[in-house]
Amino acid sequence: MKEKIIDGKLVASKIKAKITAEINNIKMNNYRTPKLCVIQVGNNVASSTYIKNKKIACEKVGILFSLLKYPATITEKELIEHIMTLNNDPDVDGILVQLPLPDHIDTNKIIDAIDVLKDVDGFSSHVLGNLMINKTKVVPATPKGIMSLFNYYNIDLVGQHVVIVGRSNIVGKPLANLTINAHATVTVCHSKTNNLSYYTKQADILVMAVGKPKMLTKEMIKENVIIIDVGTNRDKNNKLCGDVYFDDVYSKVKMISPVPGGVGPMTIASLLENIMHLYELHNK
Ligand code: GUN
Repeated sequence: MKEKIIDGKLVASKIKAKITAEINNIKMNNYRTPKLCVIQVGNNVASSTYIKNKKIACEKVGILFSLLKYPATITEKELIEHIMTLNNDPDVDGILVQLPLPDHIDTNKIIDAIDVLKDVDGFSSHVLGNLMINKTKVVPATPKGIMSLFNYYNIDLVGQHVVIVGRSNIVGKPLANLTINAHATVTVCHSKTNNLSYYTKQADILVMAVGKPKMLTKEMIKENVIIIDVGTNRDKNNKLCGDVYFDDVYSKVKMISPVPGGVGPMTIASLLENIMHLYELHNK
């Protein structure tokens, strides 16, 4: 039954092995090593965990990692000045401002202050605009990772009905553009969608990115659907779980990405790919 599982951990390990080999080659030739700088504002616990995971992943493959921490009271102007310093530092390939930022800071303004060629998250209006017209290689990490899973498992999107539940700027919206560019027919649902099941039942490929533990049950899907679960939640027993009630839907699906071990590892691997892509652009 294992062949039903979309194994993000496996695909991510292959991507990371390839990057490790590339970095070894860079180091053997005494070239400059790729470097990621992460900016953290305040002390959000979840953010600290995400950042720690990014640090571990960078260090494992040999990418330099630097964390710049600022107090939650920092002004927008000060934060932009720090970003400008990194924009002008030739040793820095990628700048990542960990979100969310405190309420007094305009997130879009901060992201758009990052040099387009260092926007490793791909969250700036410039990069997202390019993604819409199919013109960029830096793609937000989670949707990029999902596209890599489709590619690895030879899941052809042409003419397929992809239903995405979730419309965030980080996942739902960019993924809608990527799947449209891959010739799927795309429906985007969200928290205000009336009669959600009407749409999820029509999906050939269903992407759940809402953040509600185990909300998708077998009554909401058709037989042989392919499910990608982006949710990272805790269930009643504090166990990690997705937006999909995995045990309930499993017998009905064609394939499914589990939580943990599905999209999560792919997000990190895709971030590493983005750093490498920006590094290549800087060395051209
Ligand atoms: N907060 C939650 N996910 C992300 C991410 O992928 N990038 C950044 N910068 N912040 C986040």
